[in-house]
Amino acid sequence: MLGDGKKKSLSNFSINLSYKNILHIIQQKTSMKKILITGGAGFIGSHVVRLFVTKYPDYHIFNLDKLTYAGNLANLTDIENAPNYTFVRGDIVDADFINELFETHQFDGVIHLAAESHVDRSITEPMAFVMTNVVGTCNLLNAAKNTWKASGYEGKRFYHVSTDEVYGELHNPEDFFLETTPYDPRSPYSASKASSDHFVRAYGNTYKLPIVITNCSNNYGPNHFPEKLLPLMINNILHSKPLPVYGKGENVRDWLFVVDHARAIDTVYHTGKEGETYNIGGFNEWKNIDIVRLVCKTMDSKLGRPEGTSEQLITYVTDRAGHDLRYAIDATKIMNELGWKPSLQFEEGLEKTVDWFLNNQEWLDNITSGNYKEYYDKMYS
Ligand SMILES: NC(=O)c1ccc[n+]([C@@H]2O[C@H](COP(=O)([O-])OP(=O)(O)OC[C@H]3O[C@@H](n4cnc5c(N)ncnc54)[C@H](O)[C@@H]3O)[C@@H](O)[C@H]2O)c1
Repeated sequence: MLGDGKKKSLSNFSINLSYKNILHIIQQKTSMKKILITGGAGFIGSHVVRLFVTKYPDYHIFNLDKLTYAGNLANLTDIENAPNYTFVRGDIVDADFINELFETHQFDGVIHLAAESHVDRSITEPMAFVMTNVVGTCNLLNAAKNTWKASGYEGKRFYHVSTDEVYGELHNPEDFFLETTPYDPRSPYSASKASSDHFVRAYGNTYKLPIVITNCSNNYGPNHFPEKLLPLMINNILHSKPLPVYGKGENVRDWLFVVDHARAIDTVYHTGKEGETYNIGGFNEWKNIDIVRLVCKTMDSKLGRPEGTSEQLITYVTDRAGHDLRYAIDATKIMNELGWKPSLQFEEGLEKTVDWFLNNQEWLDNITSGNYKEYYDKMYS
């Protein structure tokens, strides 16, 4: 569906505007940089869309999203009427649609976040991950290449957002993932993201498409879909439901506040070197069980429950198949070369996150009713 979303026409403007003024407005509009953000209704994408729409009034931001179970326009109500924002509903797997979209709008840049993103779902439905994450990414690469090559790619940028999971797992506590760490994906999700990363680099190398890639650690923060660890725990504590922890909870992840990831994406989009990869992370490693205990403690205090109440809900469940032991990002390159660093300490970020969920229980309830509930019951019964 092309052009879904807001349609603007000159009839909205005052009849008193002179021809010269109207021409000026049209010129301003047409010279605006047009940036396509894919997956902008999802968790991270919505924070990136908000940042770009509010920080860059001279950019026109197109948010392309299929609105799968993970896409939610309620994440963007505060900016949905901004004059420099347009939502387009569509599927990146549909090559004809993507080609037409690029021809119509002649984007200057792409920030590609749309993906199937949940490891557990990739174990039960791997082909959905191949289609969106691999085929969908290739469709975007082809459309960008075909529309941009005539201009010699002048001023263009294709930014692919990826994950640290492509690097596999770490065992030695002194090891970190570097940009040069060989890929070793171990789940259908990470394999599909690794494959898409390879295609992006291949288009950069073969067709000279101006690409840049980032690989980020686990995000947390407002609007996080409640199938993922932190919002799942917050929601279950709210409803005094069991807190399912895989295996013994020994798996280690590096956590970054989602707004800091969006800031990093802004930095890399504008100042990252063409063809480069940057790792993004918070130097903030936590064992799953420790982070769950911290969420319990924070929630007990916020809800006025005696400390220790929520911990009693922890229930160990059969470990995820092929569960990677430890991920840890070395983010020195982006910090030293581009000057980005996380703005929040973890405890502060977690507090903000818990407060957001407590203040937005309607958002949570809308998601946790209906289809999601069936999925949840299947996964954790
Ligand atoms: N969440 C994390 O911790 C994390 C960490 C590092 C990297 N990433 C990457 O960041 C990106 C965004 O992750 P997220 O957690 O926000 O994911 P998400 O699942 O919350 O959002 C994905 C969005 O993509 C949309 N989408 C899915 N399939 C689509 C399709 N075929 N066509 C168009 N839109 C489609 C969904 O509707 C949704 O809005 C992904 O590429 C993910 O691999 C995520």
